Amino acid sequence: MTRKGIILAGGSGTRLYPITMAVSKQLMPIYDKPMIFYPISTLMLAGIRDIAVITTPHDQAQFQHVLGDGSQWGLRFTWIVQDSPDGLAQAYLLAEDFLDGAPSAMVLGDNLFFGHGLTEILKSASVSDDNAVFGYQVRDPERYGVIGFNPDGTVAEITEKPSAPASNFAVTGLYFLNGDAPEKARTITPSARGELEIADLLALYLKEEALKVHKMGRGYAWLDTGTHASLLDAGNFARTLENRQGLQTGCLEEIAFEQDWITESELRDRAALFAKNAYGDYLLRLLD
Ligand code: DAU
Repeated sequence: MTRKGIILAGGSGTRLYPITMAVSKQLMPIYDKPMIFYPISTLMLAGIRDIAVITTPHDQAQFQHVLGDGSQWGLRFTWIVQDSPDGLAQAYLLAEDFLDGAPSAMVLGDNLFFGHGLTEILKSASVSDDNAVFGYQVRDPERYGVIGFNPDGTVAEITEKPSAPASNFAVTGLYFLNGDAPEKARTITPSARGELEIADLLALYLKEEALKVHKMGRGYAWLDTGTHASLLDAGNFARTLENRQGLQTGCLEEIAFEQDWITESELRDRAALFAKNAYGDYLLRLLD
């Protein structure tokens, strides 16, 4: 079965108040594009075109304004509402009908990945039958799901926001799971903070020795957008890359065009929408 994508873009966004009081966090600008473009690009680079976008009830219309039905990028979006932020693992329950037994790649709407060779690791995770998550070394692991390793290097546990982290490796917000994920998610119960925890779902896979953890090396950037400062840093990072290389990151039209999911004339139509700015100029240059 073809792998399907899920983008989890709900949540309360309170940590970024007041800027997220009216607009969802995942629609905040990362330099020249809305944050959600980046996780969409991650799924596209993995070759995934059938994508469920999960939002809060009140933010859904705004996301639809920006993203439409996805056809402008050769994608198909299915819209799902999460009534309240009851945990990342709940996404699999909400998306159960959409997945219809298919394996999935879920990415959190605020997770930004960059790096040489990213496409290859995403593509190979996508075509593999393995369930997989990615570990990334961070300075402040206690803010994330943290990987505990056995002496032989295998994964012993994944713990959500531990006060005494077992390692500096955080689990990134990108999860490749098989078609059992909804069924497994149904068996877990809310944690002390009242959420269906992704760590508890992953623990079920770990128990069956059915979860691979790939380390993402230092050549990759996994950026955080959880504070005002890190949000600005992420935007500056995207701008620095674009400015230096003259190449866009997270440009959905470019990825779609390169994969032959949209035609030249469709790309030209998109460029016309942004005719007065650098983003539009960039799309036109792709046609040369
Ligand atoms: O970013 C990676 C981390 O993401 C992982 O290391 C953690 O294991 C994982 O729990 C998660 O931690 P966060 O502290 O970032 O989770 P947060 O509650 O902030 O939610 C992450 C995103 O998912 C956020 O943009 C809001 C959205 N969300 C969250 C919840 C709990 C939803 O859409 N629905 C939800 O129910």
